[in-house]
Amino acid sequence: MIIRDAKLTDVESILKLWKELMLVHGNLDPIFEISEDGEEKFRSFLISNINATVEKVVKVAVVDGSTVGYMMGIIKQNPPVFKMTQFGEIMDACVTANFRRQHIGERIFAEMKQWFSQKGITRLDVNAAAKNPVSMKFWQKMGFQPYLNHMYSYLP
Ligand SMILES: CC(C)(COP(=O)(O)OP(=O)(O)OC[C@H]1O[C@@H](n2cnc3c(N)ncnc32)[C@H](O)[C@@H]1OP(=O)(O)O)[C@@H](O)C(=O)NCCC(=O)NCCS
Repeated sequence: MIIRDAKLTDVESILKLWKELMLVHGNLDPIFEISEDGEEKFRSFLISNINATVEKVVKVAVVDGSTVGYMMGIIKQNPPVFKMTQFGEIMDACVTANFRRQHIGERIFAEMKQWFSQKGITRLDVNAAAKNPVSMKFWQKMGFQPYLNHMYSYLP
């Protein structure tokens, strides 16, 4: 297995993984349902992230020429009231179903951590869906802990 930076030629295979990720979440909670042009919008977002190598990172795991997992991250500015001026965020993480529990996610994350560290980042955040026990367990194993409860309420 190779873990490497994503290239523009990876876009369609990452898109497949993103759809898998969104399907998992859409089945858990309707808040994650994607719009009709969601896929097109994500494609453009992904392409701009692959090209923006200063503050964005996209890593893929490739096994026998197939892209089986990816993660995407960003460097964010903290509101100016805080001592820490910037932090990293993992935006997306997916390993395709047949390849899970083989430490591929862990290995992609190791490369992500290295990328952020090289940029001088000392804190990483991740948004893990409250109804997704797998991602909660995975991120906890990767050393994350909650510090916010992100809540929502629909208005009548
Ligand atoms: C979350 C995800 C990326 C993890 O990838 P993975 O390659 O299967 O994870 P790893 O094999 O590297 O797991 C590392 C550790 O995390 C924990 N873990 C991972 N999946 C788990 C599961 N289903 N149940 C319990 N613990 C789990 C375990 O401690 C595991 O180590 P172990 O197998 O030695 O016990 C993958 O399950 C996935 O893509 N899920 C669907 C999409 C998703 O939920 N993405 C997260 C969005 S934030």
